[in-house]
Parts: sequence; C-alpha cells; structure tokens
Amino acid sequence: MAPPFEEKTSLDPSQTPPHQTLSNAGAVSGKSKVTIVGSGNWGSVASKLIASNTLKLHSFHDEVRMWVFEETLPSGEKLTDVINRTNENVRYLPGIKLGKNVIADPDLENAVKDANMLVFVTPHQFMDGICNKLVGKVNKDVEAISLIKGMEVKKEGPCMISNLISEQLGINCCVLMGANIANEIAVEKLSEATVGYRENKEIAEKWVQLFTTPYFIVSAVQDVEGVELCGTLKNVVAIAAGLVDGLEMGNNTKAAIMRIGLREMKALSKLLFSSVKDSTFFESCGVADLITTCLGGRNRKVAEAFAKNGGKRSFDDLEAEMLQGQKLQGVSTAKEVYEVLSHRGWLELFPLFATVHEIAIGHLPPSAIVKYSEHKPMLSLV
Ligand SMILES: NC(=O)c1ccc[n+]([C@@H]2O[C@H](COP(=O)([O-])OP(=O)(O)OC[C@H]3O[C@@H](n4cnc5c(N)ncnc54)[C@H](O)[C@@H]3O)[C@@H](O)[C@H]2O)c1
Repeated sequence: MAPPFEEKTSLDPSQTPPHQTLSNAGAVSGKSKVTIVGSGNWGSVASKLIASNTLKLHSFHDEVRMWVFEETLPSGEKLTDVINRTNENVRYLPGIKLGKNVIADPDLENAVKDANMLVFVTPHQFMDGICNKLVGKVNKDVEAISLIKGMEVKKEGPCMISNLISEQLGINCCVLMGANIANEIAVEKLSEATVGYRENKEIAEKWVQLFTTPYFIVSAVQDVEGVELCGTLKNVVAIAAGLVDGLEMGNNTKAAIMRIGLREMKALSKLLFSSVKDSTFFESCGVADLITTCLGGRNRKVAEAFAKNGGKRSFDDLEAEMLQGQKLQGVSTAKEVYEVLSHRGWLELFPLFATVHEIAIGHLPPSAIVKYSEHKPMLSLV
C-alpha cells in the first residue's frame, strides 16, 4: 500500500538551484519523473495540476521541472528566478501558486535529462526548434504528451505536433486537448479534457491519473489524430466566430459559423486520417472545446478586434497589443490549413477555413466570413 501523503518529502525550491535536481530518487526508485516543456499560460496551469498530483501519487517523483523560455522582467530579474522565489509565473499566470515542487529551469537540456515523462506545451511554432535541440538528449523509453494545438506543414503534407515529437525524438507521444481556457482552470473551475492515445492504454491511464483533479476531469480515447486535429482546427473556427462578433452579427450567425466549422473540422480530419473516429468530436476535445473557444478564447477576442478595425490593423499588431506575449494560434493554423487545402486541391471543399485565411492576410474584408463566392459553395460538399 502507498504510504500516506504526509510521508512524501516536503520541498523547498529556494534550496534547489535550477541546474540541480532535488534528488535522483526517480531513477533509483522507479518512480516516474515529470518535466514540462513550456511555461506560458496553459503550461503554468498544467504544472499546477501535475504538481498537485505528483505530491499525492506514489508512483511519481514529487518534483516537477518546468522548462522556461528565459525572459528578463521589467524589474530586471530573470523570470525563472522569480518563479522559483515566489512560486508564481508572474508573467503568464500571475496570482496563482504553482506548487512548491515546481522548479523552473531555463536550461532545456538539463530540464529533460532525468525525466521519463515529458509534457510539451509551447506555442506550436516553436516546437521544431525545441525538438531539434532535444535530439539525442532524451531516452527512447521516455513517454511524452503534447498539449499543443497546431500543426507543421512540410513538403510531404501536414505533420501533427505529436508526430513531430515522436519522429524527431523517437518516443511515443499522446495528446491532451479539451475545453480548457487556462485561466478558468487556474482558479479551479470544473473542466473536462481528453487524452488521445495510439496503442498503449496503460500509458494513457497514467497520463489521465497525472492530470485528473476534482476540478479537471480527464478521459482517454484511442484516437491521437482525431483529438489533436480537433484541438488544432477549432482555433481557425474561433477566428471566424470572433469576426462575426466584431461585425455584431448576433448569436444565430455565430452558431451557424460554429456548426459549419465543426463540419469542416470533421471532414478535414477524416480526409487527412481515415482512422479518425466520429465519436471523438463529441468528447471534450471536440464540440466542447469548439464552444468554449468561440465564446471566450484569445483567438476570438483578437479576431473581434480585427473586424472592429475593418481589417486595417494586422493580427500581428493586435496580438502584440492585446496578448502581452501570449501567442495566437488560429491565424498561423489557418495559414497552415490553407497550404494543405491548396496543395491537395481541396480549397473549395472548405470555404470557412479558406475564407478565414484570406481575411487574415487582407485579401478579403472581414465581412466575407459570411459571404462565400460562387466558387466556394457554402456547406455543399463536405
Ligand atoms: N492558454 C490556454 O488557455 C490554452 C489552453 C489549451 C491549450 N493551449 C495551447 O497550449 C500551447 C501553449 O500555450 P500557452 O498558453 O501555454 O502559451 P502562451 O501563449 O501563454 O505563452 C507563450 C509562451 O511561449 C514562450 N516563448 C516565446 N518565445 C519563444 C521561443 N522563441 N521559443 C520557445 N518558447 C517561446 C513564452 O516564454 C511563453 O512561455 C499552445 O499550443 C496553445 O494552443 C493553450
């Protein structure tokens, strides 16, 4: 039987510089040791969830290492030092204690070196570079999970981030997606999420155990691509929903956009990967994430401002002004989706996805989100 919670070591991060580990007990005891690669808004909330569980669950080492893309704060201090001193990510999640067993580490290689469970949670555009740095630095028996919403477009076609991780690092990679606006989970409001796994149900259950709390309910489905594509494509629909909000078109129009968007999400996912299951779209990662993102997420918010400005201020400008260092995913994903659609001759099958990109790059006005040309038959083909 696992010893009681109190018997686990109490940790004081101020005693442990980021370049050292708290102990090597992970390797010696066979307990799993978790490192989080990323420390933005969602990355910090993920640390909080995980850190509360590693303290309680006997099969995990207490310490959770969090790789931080180092920044110097206006005070002149390094973000990593402030996180380790205050136990808060003052830049991306102010006001929330992460857990004293979270150790911020600015050295990527050091942060991953003792881990056997890696959680990837950075904006997707940085993942290629991160994986390149990690090649040869990660053991082949390490298990990974990606919380990243986005895809890379390569010459051969679209590459999901979990696949990028698996291929570059030679490790298995699950995904976790869901209706998860980070700031709401940070204050412990009830939320659900979906783990997508490929074959190994046992490892999926381990991830479920690591993330689940009384306010964060996680379930697993055997459909990595379906879960990941839901999380990725809904950000494009959220841009469309934000445009409709900015144009003050009302709830019926927004609901229509969400319905068409969901239909395009499902059609494209199944065209890209025939293994994608219909039922996945009814999990938290599907319709629930679509709804929350179209009602409350950052993509919606910035797209609303874009439409209110008549498309005259670029998304890059608005992102810098409105998000204080946080990253928009929907606009870059719309571009990536557009590349896939045009490469495969599918543009006309996906009028909503195509139109979002054409609006974002200024080829069409924001009002085009509800006006499809004759060459883009709305709703007909997918
Ligand atoms: N925030 C949410 O509510 C939420 C919810 C679910 C999923 N996600 C997904 O999680 C992922 C991470 O988002 P987030 O909200 O944690 O991040 P964020 O947008 O809040 O923060 C940006 C992060 O990128 C880092 N960064 C900046 N430049 C970098 C570089 N050159 N290399 C590496 N890192 C760099 C910053 O330090 C910061 O940690 C995204 O894929 C996002 O779609 C976010």
